Amino acid sequence: MSTIDSVLTETRVFQPSADFVKQANVPGMAAYQALCDEAERDFEGFWARLARETLQWSKPFTRTLDESNAPFYKWFDDGELNVSYNCLDVNLANGNADKVAIIFESDDGTVTRVTYRELHARVGRFANGIKALGYKKGDRSIIYMPMSIEAVVAMQACARLGITHSVVFGGFSAKSLQERIIDVGATLVITADEQVRGGKTIPLKPAVEEAFAMGGCEAVRNVVVYRRTGGKVAWTEGRDLWMHDVEKGQSDQCEPVQVEAEHPLFVLYTSGSTGKPKGVQHASAGYLLWAALTMKWTFDLKPSDVYWCTADVGWVTGHTYIAYGPLAVGATQIVFEGVPTYPNAGRFWETIQKHGCTIFYTAPTAIRSLIKAAEASPDHHPKKYDLSSLRVIGSVGEPINPEAWMWYYNNIGGGRCPVVDTWWQTETGGHMITPLPGATGLKPGSCTLPLPGIMAAIVDETGEDVELGKGGFLVVKRPWPAMIRTIWGDPERFKKSYYPEELGGTCYLAGDGANRDTDGYFWIMGRIDDVLNVSGHRLGTMEVESALVAHPMVAEAAVVGRPDDLTGEAVVAFVVLKRARPDDAEAMEIAKELRNWVAKEIGPIAKPKEIRFGDNLPKTRSGKIMRRLLRVVAKGESVTQDVSTLENPAILEQLGKAL
Ligand code: PRX
Repeated sequence: MSTIDSVLTETRVFQPSADFVKQANVPGMAAYQALCDEAERDFEGFWARLARETLQWSKPFTRTLDESNAPFYKWFDDGELNVSYNCLDVNLANGNADKVAIIFESDDGTVTRVTYRELHARVGRFANGIKALGYKKGDRSIIYMPMSIEAVVAMQACARLGITHSVVFGGFSAKSLQERIIDVGATLVITADEQVRGGKTIPLKPAVEEAFAMGGCEAVRNVVVYRRTGGKVAWTEGRDLWMHDVEKGQSDQCEPVQVEAEHPLFVLYTSGSTGKPKGVQHASAGYLLWAALTMKWTFDLKPSDVYWCTADVGWVTGHTYIAYGPLAVGATQIVFEGVPTYPNAGRFWETIQKHGCTIFYTAPTAIRSLIKAAEASPDHHPKKYDLSSLRVIGSVGEPINPEAWMWYYNNIGGGRCPVVDTWWQTETGGHMITPLPGATGLKPGSCTLPLPGIMAAIVDETGEDVELGKGGFLVVKRPWPAMIRTIWGDPERFKKSYYPEELGGTCYLAGDGANRDTDGYFWIMGRIDDVLNVSGHRLGTMEVESALVAHPMVAEAAVVGRPDDLTGEAVVAFVVLKRARPDDAEAMEIAKELRNWVAKEIGPIAKPKEIRFGDNLPKTRSGKIMRRLLRVVAKGESVTQDVSTLENPAILEQLGKAL
């Protein structure tokens, strides 16, 4: 609680400059308030107006919100449109045909630019190619690709044909890939031979082969491979096709398949507190509406901007704020293949300078690691670069601590750029609580106020609003167009996870704890469930535990999070082996083996930072593992709580020692 108390008394407030307000898309608090009032007054009218103004419909909708089967809400459901048409064709018609859509900055610094006309043609050819292979609306594809123009082409081509895609982050293991291929029922996999990051090549197609070898992927008819490096890959004739061969000879005009507003645009897997990752299903129209609107509201996007979101397309940020949102508003964006520290810690700053980037959006973990790097290597300190093109800078994925916020504001934003700290989730589809750069006064560490139409609140366990200053559960009391529609194949889990009966069944439970200060500003306190946030990546403790106990040596495992200066949270695993507890030297070896095992089961991001071995785990007499105590022990603190209900209190001392 101590950190949250101190942030709640944060007194620094940074108001937007008069010049910024004057030119802003939402100019000033009165303009923000007017939008909020409009949504309060006529909720459906507000959303209907925005949906008509923002999107092009092949069949206009007449119903805005259908709540008859809550919480399975439907938006604009008798309307029809095509997402790719709205991202590409609309730009050709709007005079953006020769505008650069994507500036691709590869790992080694080579730059490739594509205009909207070229992107439209590439998407058309690829869509025609996969259509010729027999793929059609309602099919599901898995996209397992590096950051590239081709990944955006693949996503847009699926959207053009009404194929529901599920992108799997390239850092996930073959096992994770296999699970997603099976769960989503994919018949098509789009991948690359290899990816390149930080000067190294990392295989992708081989992971697909490995996933297939594990079984269960027999429904996949084709694997389409983007040739990124030319590295040698295994090939199954008839099944495997090069992306360029699929495109070859195809017309660049592909008639977009008009789909119902609620047609699933994509399924994206994310971690929950129990079981396997869940497939978050998003609809087409409501999602795209919010992607486009938040581009304009949160980032204040203008036609002349050069926008850069550093996320990977494998995460929701890369969906909404790379593959869809920027294109839907005709932006010029940078797509970056590499890592922030290659060839040196100045890479981000150099790239901003090189392309005249005006809007920059990244994660607190990247900021924190670059603060450290800038201090360690003054040659690559941001002050060595010309960052004067920037006008808005953003943060996403995890709480940003006030110190990192101030550094970002001063060193990157030059004390002149509003910092938009955007709170949202895979499930919300787009930004929910965030400053508007030309309106909201900023407080370092607070995501400030909900966007217009987003009825966010903080409630207690009975669903009652808590007083300002008292913490509680972050909820959203009314549906919104970009919200999750269901969990793929598991509507019951959707209801249970997000619309619990205890809160009345119509109030969206975000899974975060939050607090509001006396100005009504929101402060996110972190997850209330067994979900960790490591470097802005969501991880279920159960997932890591299941991975560990799948190892033949492991009898039992308990995983908790520990605050970490760099990654926000770090994974700490407590493990009981089937054999006797190892001595220190042996323990190091086994810990290494288990860490690699977890990387193979899930992906390197899930590797425990620390593993401690015990004869046992702290349990109540009924056999429940006391994770609460393990969290204390993991931090290196001594347990002051009452441990009288513990079966084996002495174990805490044994587990308290780090290797
Ligand atoms: O705990 C919150 C944290 O990230 C979770 C959502 O993770 P994910 O679905 O992977 O989406 C990340 C990208 C939107 C939330 O439940 N989170 C996200 N943004 C913030 C945040 N915590 C604090 N401040 C934020 N700005």
